[in-house]
Amino acid sequence: ECRQERHRPQIHFSVPSNWLNDPNGMVYYDGEYHLHYQYHPYSTQWGPMHWGHAVSTDLVTWTDLPISLYPDELGMIFSGSAVVDLDNSTGLQKDSVQPIVAIFTHANAGPQQQSIAYSLNKARDFVKYENNPVVPNPGVGDFRDPKVIRYNDKWVMVLAVGNKVDFFGSSDLKTWEFLSDFGIDPSQGSHAGVWECPDLVRIQHNGFYHWVLLVSINPGGPNGGSVTQYFIGSFDGKEFHSNQMDALWMDWGEDNYAAVSFSNEPKGRTLVMGWMNNWAYANELPTRSEGFNGQMTLPRELNLATVDGALRLISSLPEEFGKLRDPSQVFQLPLLKEIPPNGFYNVSEEIGFKSGLVEVDLAFNMVGIEGTSSIAICFVNRQRQEVCTGYDHERPVDKELFMNRELSGDLRAIGGLRRATAGRVKKDNIITFKIVMDLSAAEVFIDNGLTVFTALFFPDEPLDTLEIRHHAGSAESRVTLINGSVQGLRSMYN
Ligand code: FRU
Repeated sequence: ECRQERHRPQIHFSVPSNWLNDPNGMVYYDGEYHLHYQYHPYSTQWGPMHWGHAVSTDLVTWTDLPISLYPDELGMIFSGSAVVDLDNSTGLQKDSVQPIVAIFTHANAGPQQQSIAYSLNKARDFVKYENNPVVPNPGVGDFRDPKVIRYNDKWVMVLAVGNKVDFFGSSDLKTWEFLSDFGIDPSQGSHAGVWECPDLVRIQHNGFYHWVLLVSINPGGPNGGSVTQYFIGSFDGKEFHSNQMDALWMDWGEDNYAAVSFSNEPKGRTLVMGWMNNWAYANELPTRSEGFNGQMTLPRELNLATVDGALRLISSLPEEFGKLRDPSQVFQLPLLKEIPPNGFYNVSEEIGFKSGLVEVDLAFNMVGIEGTSSIAICFVNRQRQEVCTGYDHERPVDKELFMNRELSGDLRAIGGLRRATAGRVKKDNIITFKIVMDLSAAEVFIDNGLTVFTALFFPDEPLDTLEIRHHAGSAESRVTLINGSVQGLRSMYN
């Protein structure tokens, strides 16, 4: 099936029509990755929430399925997670069919509370549990977005509660007891907005396991609006302790929110997807006139790296992404190509290839980058609309990396959130960029995923021409492309 709206993402999952926000109930079961999502089936703006549903066998192409959960007398169906009950802890297993259990927030004008539903037919139909809610509201306003994980022989729920998270424990998913909370200390991480959609993931690094708490926050993002922060620390089944006080950001772009992981991932990877949007403008995206409003980031693998003795999250594309690479559209760029000072290198002209659907890998050696020197990697169309990412030495050290969509076309929705910046974590001469371009979004992974920018944009036609600009702020400024490739991508609808 071909989807041809002008800004319809071709390599990202997007809602067939109407409105989508957070990814929900992501779980692997019997050969399929399930993606549920906050869905308003009657409008391109947020409204009474349902759980929409799609599945994928390869994390690249998605099949849309009917709505999984409808609002009911307890309220709308807000965000939540899903698990496979491998040990029949719920007693819901039938013969050899292990249940998928969805854990979600029931929300209405009154209190928010946590409920469950289960499926015995691969998430095609869910039955709501008869004794919902399973976690009633203790008398607080924001009490939502349960993410459930397995810890030894117990279930642990992490829940967003105002400006912190609460942990609950259960042996059967039906009765829960409060374990602990995290985030009371206002100087730990960012508390500039309400905490939402938490996740607790375990990641191995150099032979040790670390626990990473993901917490989305709205507003309060370093570049405006809603964004996902993370804490690296330890978890003993009851309490989480963070190693750090400062806020760290999973993505510095404006368009990655509510990212959480797939449960039961068969290879043990931490695979996340986020809502590629921002509450600051989500309800007004120009794609509304094309009948849809909402898309997800690519699935990303999260790992840890040590930089200057400190642990950091790094994001990368899972190997499955390779299926989108078109083997007839692979272009290696000349090695040791010098980008002319105060000039530019027209890569598309050099390789004789233009496309708005590409994966670009670039490694630069930067020497004598002083004063106002900068490198900009720009995707441009015939109308000179453009999106650029790069390194700008003129900026303060916490703002050298940038993702700029100031000239990207329709800016009405985006408003003032036009340029995202981040400090560079790694400080050596070699800087790498992986950029994945879709028709209306880019994902940029700098220094092997230490810094990520995800951004939406709405040009009048695809940004199909790649050029690399070098502004020389000093006579010594030299930028050499030491490795580079352009890989054409295929649409997931082909
Ligand atoms: C996050 C969020 C969640 C809530 C859902 C409602 O984007 O606000 O906290 O469950 O969206 O759609």
